[in-house]
Amino acid sequence: MYSLTLALIAWWIVFANGQSCDQRKYDQDSVVCVCNATYCDSFDPITPEASGKYLIFTSDRDGRRFQKSVQNFSNPSNGSDSSWINRNVTYQGIVGFGGAFTDSTGININSLDEKTKSNLISAYFSKKGIEYNMGRVPIGGTDFSTHAYSYMDNQTVAYSNVSSTNFTLAPEDLQYKIPLIKNAQQVLGRKLKLFGSAWIAPRAWKSNGQYSGFGFLNREHFQDWADYHIRFLQLYKEQGLDFWGITTGNEPNNYLVPFNKVPTVAFFFYDQQTWINNNFGPTLRNSSYSNVKLIGLDDNRIVLGFLDDQLKSNVTRSFIDGIGIHWYTDFIPASVVTKFHNKYPNLFIFGSEACIQNMLQEPVVLGSWGRGEQYANDIINDLQNWMGGWVDWNMALNVQGGPTYINNFVDSPIIVNATAGEFYKQPTYYALGHFSKFLPENSVRVKIEDLENLQVVAFQRPDNATAVIVLNSNDDAREFKYFDNERGEISFNCTPHSISSILYW
Ligand SMILES: *[C@@H]1O[C@H](CO)[C@@H](O)[C@H](O)[C@H]1NC(C)=O
Ligand SMILES: *[C@@H]1O[C@H](CO)[C@@H](O)[C@H](O)[C@H]1NC(C)=O
Ligand SMILES: *[C@@H]1O[C@H](CO)[C@@H](O)[C@H](O)[C@H]1NC(C)=O
Ligand SMILES: *[C@@H]1O[C@H](CO)[C@@H](O)[C@H](O)[C@H]1NC(C)=O
Ligand SMILES: *[C@@H]1O[C@H](CO)[C@@H](O)[C@H](O)[C@H]1NC(C)=O
Ligand SMILES: *[C@@H]1O[C@H](CO)[C@@H](O)[C@H](O)[C@H]1NC(C)=O
Ligand SMILES: *[C@@H]1O[C@H](CO)[C@@H](O)[C@H](O)[C@H]1NC(C)=O
Ligand SMILES: *[C@@H]1O[C@H](CO)[C@@H](O)[C@H](O)[C@H]1NC(C)=O
Ligand SMILES: *[C@@H]1O[C@H](CO)[C@@H](O)[C@H](O)[C@H]1NC(C)=O
Ligand SMILES: *[C@@H]1O[C@H](CO)[C@@H](O)[C@H](O)[C@H]1NC(C)=O
Ligand SMILES: *[C@@H]1O[C@H](CO)[C@@H](O)[C@H](O)[C@H]1NC(C)=O
Repeated sequence: MYSLTLALIAWWIVFANGQSCDQRKYDQDSVVCVCNATYCDSFDPITPEASGKYLIFTSDRDGRRFQKSVQNFSNPSNGSDSSWINRNVTYQGIVGFGGAFTDSTGININSLDEKTKSNLISAYFSKKGIEYNMGRVPIGGTDFSTHAYSYMDNQTVAYSNVSSTNFTLAPEDLQYKIPLIKNAQQVLGRKLKLFGSAWIAPRAWKSNGQYSGFGFLNREHFQDWADYHIRFLQLYKEQGLDFWGITTGNEPNNYLVPFNKVPTVAFFFYDQQTWINNNFGPTLRNSSYSNVKLIGLDDNRIVLGFLDDQLKSNVTRSFIDGIGIHWYTDFIPASVVTKFHNKYPNLFIFGSEACIQNMLQEPVVLGSWGRGEQYANDIINDLQNWMGGWVDWNMALNVQGGPTYINNFVDSPIIVNATAGEFYKQPTYYALGHFSKFLPENSVRVKIEDLENLQVVAFQRPDNATAVIVLNSNDDAREFKYFDNERGEISFNCTPHSISSILYW
């Protein structure tokens, strides 16, 4: 047993770096990469290349996954017929990339044995993986829980003393969220930028007495609802976890959608602004958590106008640090985000939720490159319009796309098959990784000329490397060619339906 363990450790050391994708093809246009207790595809450490060279990592529909190549710059003094990159023209900085620590994520990850679980956490947070630096933490339950719950459900009356022991963390915090966040931070080697979002208030505080549906937070509980958030930050702090941000609440406008069963803390008309101005803002800024970023909207582009209205108040403006946008109405052009940025240039903007929810297909589609491309396309559009990050929804779901107590099954970049003791990395995982891995926090977007039929964004990173990400959504290969006047020309063939991350120092 002992020597077997040693042999396994030796095998791990030899093969742990830069393993390739163990491809599996279901009935789709591309593949998933299979990981288990002893095998998972991963990155070698990325080290700077000499100044005449650049790195390219490519994933595509044909099954390449972060395939690495090193190339030489050419024509150092002649770029007259190429597109240009200009690092002197700068735009927004990167806030970060990540996923959500939902209960379902925790349940699925915990359904795996320790080694497989560790490979999964590594896949998201370590240097061998795609180096997420952000995590969204639901304050209580969400639709991706096995039941709805707030932290004050065990009261029969509208009791509102949140400082009392009546407000306790739920078993889900202690079993799933907290241990998983700690594990992720350990693997990352530093603190994640955590931000909290609430879906569910105590039912007794709502006009309809329900977690979802057409009901609003009662005004007499506005201060309680602010205190409730502070109490959450305090109890997580006691568990050793600090928050970077907190939102004004997940999708408060959900109640407008008939028959929507997603639990929601809705506000009647301008009440959310009143709550921010009179309760949440002052309470947060006057608490021990005064440096926690207050993130507005946390809802779709289609309701960006509601936030714009709220921000007409200079009091609201004095509290809001940035905004989170969900992707479910991204049929609305991203130019509305640029317009918003131009009006409020001091607010950071990032994507705070996305997932593939396609009513016409199975919730989970294993190996769909189209879904990966949907992620990459949205991220590039967002980055081109002043958004500084993108936070995915569930990090791990089961093969049905759950659990979800309201049967709101969706897809996820990692699908866990507990029966087989394995998990599948979907094309969406790689699509997101082409950004999260290569654009660390505080990278700054720089100008790059548009290239015909290719989508491209460029960044200068804090380590002074230049990172360029290019998406080819065409059915045929395209030449990618541009000129960096300090280096020379970059030119390579983008394979059909591919995403490439280019990196040079
Ligand atoms: C894990 O996957 C590797 C690579 O496909 C395979 O060789 C190995 O047998 C698998 N291990 C288990 C326990 O299934
Ligand atoms: C890059 O240049 C080096 C010499 O500096 C040469 O050995 C190598 O083959 C070149 N690589 C490519 C991909 O052209
Ligand atoms: C630059 O190089 C290309 C070939 O790579 C050539 O066709 C072009 O004439 C050159 N332009 C100048 C201004 O030297
Ligand atoms: C950027 O600015 C530097 C110094 O101001 C200048 O030397 C360089 O030519 C500029 N680069 C471009 C692409 O304009
Ligand atoms: C409520 O009470 C039940 C049973 O006493 C307990 O299992 C559950 O954890 C409590 N919920 C919370 C949020 O404290
Ligand atoms: C809230 O509850 C705590 C503990 O039960 C108690 O010490 C405190 O006085 C209560 N505060 C209010 C305002 O009722
Ligand atoms: C919870 O609140 C109720 C009032 O609704 C109070 O009677 C009870 O003592 C409180 N429980 C705890 C543990 O503080
Ligand atoms: C901040 O808290 C202190 C002490 O609890 C209180 O005296 C003060 O009124 C509070 N200020 C605001 C703006 O809420
Ligand atoms: C908002 O504006 C009013 C009047 O224009 C001013 O008195 C007040 O101090 C401002 N408040 C903040 C928080 O800036
Ligand atoms: C999950 O694993 C079980 C047991 O190995 C297998 O029968 C099933 O087909 C797997 N599901 C998928 C989607 O691969
Ligand atoms: C990046 O470049 C700037 C200016 O050239 C320099 O001051 C800084 O030290 C460099 N940073 C790193 C991490 O190399």
